Amino acid sequence: MAPITNGRLIFKEIPTGYPIPGKTTVYDTTSTIDLENEPLDGSVLVKTLVLSVDPYLRGKMRAPERQSYTPPFFVGEPLYNFGVGKVVRSENSAFKAGDHVYGVLDFAEYFIPKDITKLEVIVRPEPTLPYSVYVGAAGMPGQTSYYGWKAYAKAKAGEVVFVTTAAGPVGSLVVQLAKQDGLKVIASAGTDEKVKFCKEIGADVAFNYKTTNTADVLAKEGPIDIYWDNVGGPTLEAAIANTALQARIIICGYISQYNGEEDYGIKNIKNVLFNQLSINGLYVTAHHERYKDEFYKVIPKKLASGEFKYTEDITRGLESGGEAILEVQKGLNTAKKIIVVADD
Ligand SMILES: NC(=O)c1ccc[n+]([C@@H]2O[C@H](COP(=O)([O-])OP(=O)(O)OC[C@H]3O[C@@H](n4cnc5c(N)ncnc54)[C@H](OP(=O)(O)O)[C@@H]3O)[C@@H](O)[C@H]2O)c1
Repeated sequence: MAPITNGRLIFKEIPTGYPIPGKTTVYDTTSTIDLENEPLDGSVLVKTLVLSVDPYLRGKMRAPERQSYTPPFFVGEPLYNFGVGKVVRSENSAFKAGDHVYGVLDFAEYFIPKDITKLEVIVRPEPTLPYSVYVGAAGMPGQTSYYGWKAYAKAKAGEVVFVTTAAGPVGSLVVQLAKQDGLKVIASAGTDEKVKFCKEIGADVAFNYKTTNTADVLAKEGPIDIYWDNVGGPTLEAAIANTALQARIIICGYISQYNGEEDYGIKNIKNVLFNQLSINGLYVTAHHERYKDEFYKVIPKKLASGEFKYTEDITRGLESGGEAILEVQKGLNTAKKIIVVADD
């Protein structure tokens, strides 16, 4: 069989603000691959099916010398992230042709992983759930919610929790875990459609933070015992100002400052002392060992039965991957952003 074009999404240039499709990320069709004869050197040839688009990808688009909690992308190479693929050929006894694999995949139609330890044959406890869900609510974002809630919320029925980006994959699962534990949930999101979804999944109070002042809502509906922070900045400050005694703050993300914005200095840190607050930095990978098995036992079942709801926003084709990444950074995604690269 003759070599075929292998479309890839390349990290082309370090951005200063938002990642611009065609500049920061470029869809490249100059590479070819021979599916039957490409040397594998003990590895596998994977056909990419679905890729997750997550906010943290922007943090990987940085100069390599800048430290962070996750390694940087390298200019000139394909981006990579969690995804599901199908093994086309294998020279590794852990995989066989036809296996579906989960793990870190290149943004390429086909690829041969350099580090095979980042892939595993996918375990789908609920086979009725599409593969895409296993990179969303039943994958890394869902794990973030579950692990963080278990490790840090110390939730008690009747308490009040405030969740930001509450319609996204992380926030929406937090809302549902909190309702399951009997809390009053205040949820914020950036469009009226997202606010509607927050109400559908049980939020007691849901509002559009672009048209309603967050501090006013918290002053009326709080004080809050738990704040799940996905955005940072003035929202974090408003949450701190409206905490109850011994409230827990879970710092999960700070998307208001991912795209070159200046770091926002929180002015009311004294409240940490006054209200005896606990502030916890959540990093999903750090909790994987401890909660992974429990997560896969509990969450896919609830998603498959409909007890827990999830929504997806699908982009078709790797050539639109740059746009998908930008949409998530700008909040234009309507739900968990997935790129469907190929059908099974
Ligand atoms: N710590 C960890 O291990 C870990 C793991 C996974 C995710 N996270 C973090 O969890 C958060 C949510 O992730 P996700 O995957 O669920 O994302 P997501 O909801 O699918 O997408 C990001 C959302 O952030 C909101 N947003 C964008 N720009 C914003 C701004 N300037 N101010 C406020 N909100 C803005 C938008 O929602 P609205 O329309 O509602 O504004 C956007 O849809 C992110 O901060 C992410 O980095 C952390």
